[in-house]
Amino acid sequence: MHFKGIRQPLALLLKNSPLMSRLTLYDIAHTPKVAADLSHIETGATVKGYLGPEQLPDCLKGCDVVVIPAGVPRKPGMTRDDLFNTNASIVATLSAACAQHCPEAMICIISNPVNSTIPIATEVFKKHGVYNPSKIFGVMTLDVVRANTFIAELKGLDPARVNVPVIGGHAGKTIIPLISQCTPKVDLPQAQLTAITGQIQEASTEVVKAKAGAGSATLSVAYTRAQFVFSLVDVMNGKEGVVERSFVKSQEADCAYFSTPLLLGEKGIEKNLGIGKISPFGEMIAEAIPELKASIKKEEEFMKNMK
Ligand code: LMR
Repeated sequence: MHFKGIRQPLALLLKNSPLMSRLTLYDIAHTPKVAADLSHIETGATVKGYLGPEQLPDCLKGCDVVVIPAGVPRKPGMTRDDLFNTNASIVATLSAACAQHCPEAMICIISNPVNSTIPIATEVFKKHGVYNPSKIFGVMTLDVVRANTFIAELKGLDPARVNVPVIGGHAGKTIIPLISQCTPKVDLPQAQLTAITGQIQEASTEVVKAKAGAGSATLSVAYTRAQFVFSLVDVMNGKEGVVERSFVKSQEADCAYFSTPLLLGEKGIEKNLGIGKISPFGEMIAEAIPELKASIKKEEEFMKNMK
């Protein structure tokens, strides 16, 4: 069974939005069935399913935004990094197709390990001579959404009004929630701060455990990825002042890719808003950097072997 996991709920959320004009679904099976089903929803977006590599070019041509959730999910006991061997080549293949058939599109990558797949997509786009650092995003708003939800639960707040900045990467210790910069301001004793930081960093593993071999988070991932796509479409339609967090090529930390708040514009990243005041978090960043560098290095080895 294909076109499952994140893909179906994501396609439903996108089709449900009045912002979308055209939705093209790609997989190696089932996309025409899903497209037929979705196409009855009374919103403006047309929906078409494309099957197999020979239909991938037509699926991509004319797309403004591409979301890549392809790959295998984790099973209990696995880290995101354990998915590298399978997912790296899937992301490389799909990125190459995007570079050839929709080089101007915004590329949103969900496939794990995000800390390595963004560098891979970057290098593939470079190889095709169409790289634009403002348009390749490792989508990790889920870490922000989880942090907002957990803090709101702990403090009895409305989660919709809580905003915890999360920077770094998208795996374990590389996920850095800046709880003292949360709005509204929340005061937590050190023990609670440590516990909730760990809860945010390991939230995905909780879902993997709960699914007991049936995969990782799908619905919450689809929700956050749809929100990210809506932000991109909003700015392409001229909306100003839209800020999202994403793992991107960056000069904000001592490693080549890092997630920080980004001001989006119609051409992608308009301005990297940087790390901000980090004094109590220096240690967490220092801990994250070697792990991020190792994930980025894996891309270099993978690309060397691809030649
Ligand atoms: C998540 O954050 O839940 C996803 O990246 C999936 C995973 O395996 O962690």
